[in-house]
Amino acid sequence: MSTPPAAPDIREVPEAHLGRALDLASLVFHESYDKEERDRYRRLLRRCDRLGAYADGQLVGLLAAHRLRLSVPGGQLPCAGLTFVCVAPTHRRRGVLSSMLAQLWRDCAAQGRPLAALWASEAAIYGRQGFGAATHLTTLEIDSTRPLALRLTPDPGPLRLLDAAQAPDLLGPRYEASRSRRAGRPARDRLWWREQVLPEEDEDDDELGPPRIVMSGQDPCTGYAIYRTRGGDDNDNNNTPGLVEVQELESDSAPVAAALWSYLAAIDLTGRVRAWGRPADDPLPLISADRDQVRITRQFPALWLRLVDVRAALTARAWAEPVDLVLEVRDEAVPSNDGRFRLTAGPDGARDGNRYEPTTDPADLVLDVRDLAACYLGGTGLWPLAQAGLVTENTPGAARRLDAALRTELLPFTHDEF
Ligand SMILES: CC(C)(COP(=O)(O)OP(=O)(O)OC[C@H]1O[C@@H](n2cnc3c(N)ncnc32)[C@H](O)[C@@H]1OP(=O)(O)O)[C@@H](O)C(=O)NCCC(=O)NCCS
Repeated sequence: MSTPPAAPDIREVPEAHLGRALDLASLVFHESYDKEERDRYRRLLRRCDRLGAYADGQLVGLLAAHRLRLSVPGGQLPCAGLTFVCVAPTHRRRGVLSSMLAQLWRDCAAQGRPLAALWASEAAIYGRQGFGAATHLTTLEIDSTRPLALRLTPDPGPLRLLDAAQAPDLLGPRYEASRSRRAGRPARDRLWWREQVLPEEDEDDDELGPPRIVMSGQDPCTGYAIYRTRGGDDNDNNNTPGLVEVQELESDSAPVAAALWSYLAAIDLTGRVRAWGRPADDPLPLISADRDQVRITRQFPALWLRLVDVRAALTARAWAEPVDLVLEVRDEAVPSNDGRFRLTAGPDGARDGNRYEPTTDPADLVLDVRDLAACYLGGTGLWPLAQAGLVTENTPGAARRLDAALRTELLPFTHDEF
């Protein structure tokens, strides 16, 4: 009888192994990267922290982490932005991902990074690793074969097209200002704008053209949209109309948003506008005068969040209401998070006044760390989770109180899929 293989060794992936890392990723994600893509992904991996699982000298598991600063209610926190998570088909379901994540949690603790976040390929993977779906997006579609009918007058100011190279200077300040209003947004530097936000090719659809940018306002920018287009096909039997695929749309006000949506819906030789990921509180459906014209076609969990250091995360955020509750948090993977803690926090307590200390007092609420993560940015209600039986309420009213304290004015939302 053969002996079972030894557990792979988890260690940093050196730059010399980036070629192997990309070979593993292309195998696992069923992709064939051309030279340009390999160069781009090498640059990306070089900037990330990288962990690998090595078995008999072979790289059989990989996990990379961007060093992000993620906006949270009332501030921002260092966050490991996970990407290139893959395990070779020969080594799957033997705990390789779990071992790499266990090492990552230790690294995050040593580096003072209380959060980790990712976009999941499959929703079933990450809940058991302590991640909760912290933002939810909707896909909006506009039938633009006719003029967009709105209930308010679009801002009449001029719109102008920008080159991608102008985006960091002209749009950057507008984006940065938005981060304090919506949690879940990574800070962007020039490289992030160029490589993550405005790559020449769309990763998911190579029939879409290059990114186009339209901006409202001169200086300062009052809003902008980033979009790509695909021409119609009048040779097929369906007469498929041209498509405007909206990647990002930001505005200071509803009239500016109305002007940008009207512009997108009026581009010649197109008949459909699709915005793949908008926050659930996007005003477009509300301001639409014809809800048959603007439809919500999909809703999905987007950014998955892990509270690697619950104490650091809870004490750093701003709270909508005062709260004084004992939480019993279950976290099998990070023992320092597991246990009973008294949370004392409030609107004025962000950063220095909030407390989260171990206690032997009885728990008001018992919950899994993944559910706390889902609620942390304000994108998931804690009360519905209690109603669903996922949060245990030992003290009547405790779930409603924590729910109210976690709420944010606007829903958390990021366009940045990494
Ligand atoms: C997803 C992936 C990284 C998982 O790696 P792995 O080493 O097999 O995961 P582990 O063995 O550590 O699994 C830990 C647990 O998660 C479960 N799990 C892992 N992948 C899962 C999946 N795709 N769906 C459902 N459950 C999954 C395992 O069954 C195991 O459950 P258990 O604790 O009850 O035994 C690997 O299957 C892979 O590379 N998939 C293709 C690429 C991909 O989708 N990457 C994720 C990008 S976000």
